[in-house]
Amino acid sequence: METMLGGHLLHGCDYNPEQWLEYPEVFEEDLRLMKAAEINSVTLGVFSWSVLEPEEGVYDFEWLDRIIGRLWEADIQVILATPSGAMPHWLTQKYPEVMQVRADGRRNLPGKRHNFCYTSPIMREKIKELDVRLSEKFGQRDNVILWHISNELGGNFEDSACYCEQCQAAFRQWMKKRYGTLKRLNQAYWGRFWSHSYTDWEQIHSPAPHGEWTVTALEVDWRRFVTEQMSSFCLWEINAVRTYSKLPVTTNFMDFFKGLDYHRLQRILDIVSWDSYPQWHAQKDEAPVAVRASAGHHMMRAMKKQPFLLMESVPSGVNWRMFNPLKRPGMHMLSSMQAIACGSASVQYFQWRKGRGSYEKFHGAVLDHKNGSCTRTFADTARVGRRLKSLTGLVEGTVNRPRVAVIFDWENWWALENTTGPRLDIDYVSCVLAHYAPFWEMGIDVDFVGMDDCVEGYTLVAAPLNYMYKDGYADKIRRFVGEGGIYVTTYFSGMTDESDLCFIGHHPLEDVLGIIQEEIDAPGPEFENSMIFNGISYPVGNLRELIHVSGDTQVLACYTDDYVKGMPALTAHSFGRGTAYYIAAEPDRALLNALYKEAAGKAGLKNPLGIPLPYGVTVSLRTNQDGGGLIFVMNFKNEPAELCGFGQYTDGETGEIYKHQMILEPFSCRILISEETV
Ligand code: GAL
Repeated sequence: METMLGGHLLHGCDYNPEQWLEYPEVFEEDLRLMKAAEINSVTLGVFSWSVLEPEEGVYDFEWLDRIIGRLWEADIQVILATPSGAMPHWLTQKYPEVMQVRADGRRNLPGKRHNFCYTSPIMREKIKELDVRLSEKFGQRDNVILWHISNELGGNFEDSACYCEQCQAAFRQWMKKRYGTLKRLNQAYWGRFWSHSYTDWEQIHSPAPHGEWTVTALEVDWRRFVTEQMSSFCLWEINAVRTYSKLPVTTNFMDFFKGLDYHRLQRILDIVSWDSYPQWHAQKDEAPVAVRASAGHHMMRAMKKQPFLLMESVPSGVNWRMFNPLKRPGMHMLSSMQAIACGSASVQYFQWRKGRGSYEKFHGAVLDHKNGSCTRTFADTARVGRRLKSLTGLVEGTVNRPRVAVIFDWENWWALENTTGPRLDIDYVSCVLAHYAPFWEMGIDVDFVGMDDCVEGYTLVAAPLNYMYKDGYADKIRRFVGEGGIYVTTYFSGMTDESDLCFIGHHPLEDVLGIIQEEIDAPGPEFENSMIFNGISYPVGNLRELIHVSGDTQVLACYTDDYVKGMPALTAHSFGRGTAYYIAAEPDRALLNALYKEAAGKAGLKNPLGIPLPYGVTVSLRTNQDGGGLIFVMNFKNEPAELCGFGQYTDGETGEIYKHQMILEPFSCRILISEETV
């Protein structure tokens, strides 16, 4: 991918010069300061529709042409966005059907962004007319390197879906294609329950707060359909920009965004990119924030198993949270390095210059309203730019190749959180992050993969709250463990199939796990319980399965109290050449740390330094083809951290040699050269 993007790490930003056309001196200052901040790429055109096409069919590309030309002279590359993220008022006034309809049937009013119906033929036609022209005019320009389709598809603050009649009709077609006959559909939906069998395809309607919201399978299908419909809109735009251009395409994803299955959407893209806005400094312990940010980066990289782009981040603070801390000294560099450590080929910002008005005028940017380059933020940004520039040669050709996979699956997420019982507050993302955190703390890189993805090549697979088993999943895991893999899964796994129909008779992996699930209890908070693992007592949360074990299953811990006292709470089962762990009760973080330490040991996994890391410190490894690579050592504590007991490493940037010991500055990252992977 580096070659696609010109062979260097990108340091860039969303740039909105169209907001400043009346201030020509601002553009000149921008160019000068971009060079000073080592900005080598900008994203243009996001939300520029009303300037590119001020009236229907009247196009004005002169300003963009001029700016792209000046950027070329300044050796700055351009990521060119299609402007569908926000619609001009002439469009919504003339064709109100392009605006989304909410789940309750109300059509949105004009304004905001991400307010378009992705099914609407008018919307598709109008954006195509513009995209094709952009393709013709700019698709072959020397410094335009990448198409950026729309912006954060589905990210309209509330619900990513449109529920208009055109979407309902498309949904019915989608259902026909999926199920073929109403009989099959009714069976999949357990339709006789509450007399909900369909007798006509026209009876099908999306889930709605004032209509059907009780059928999980319908909810999951609707979300599958929304992903497919949004993907088809995105592909529509991709085809349009490809009319005169062969440039690669991306669209920017958002963290763990529930509205769209990114594992599916990414298939039509050449490059995965995402926008990362961790809430640093909300509390003094930054590790949980670092864990979540790191998980996001690893997920994006794992989608294509190649470097991704950090498309947006903020050099200071955002403006949309209840309170918005600035990045403290060191944090901007550290969080930028974290992205590179986890496989990014860029550090980009939203945005270059703070606008004067409207919703984002107080959102952090490289340039503030006042003081030009004489700010802490500007200096921090320029430092990151210089470091990225000098790192380019070092990181070239390296990518993370984790041996651990954590299953994160959107369809499972939708089904799990929509199902009723055993608790109504199950939080899939928090649970997955709790299972990821021990790896972050041990300094072992992870790929987040979906249930459809291949697990060959991994040594350890963790599958927390893997409630809905997709077709083929159980067989894949049986093979994985049989061939020597370590598999860790939890309570409330393997409950239903892709239609959310419960498995009957047996858990699909009963033979592999060596356990029999009987019941799951969700007692009130006063009913405390715990389990003892390796001599240490760990409290358990309020989801507790009652399980039995088969003869050769090892019971690693039992419940200590209440009517379940003595029943297994944690087990390990040898299957083929591998081992499957089963966590029957909601574990606390300390138990997960202890268990994954043991499982990683069994799998022969350790971090590239081969030492235990102090809390708040982690490492990430980008390897090259020869097995060597770079070890990013990161300290997320606002105090120095000491690392001892490793071998000898050379600092890839300074040439300094570290023998057995190093002190990391507060909020800092060092990049060591690794001769061989551990
Ligand atoms: C992103 C969006 C940007 C900007 C930013 C502010 O979600 O893509 O356009 O609004 O948030 O944090």
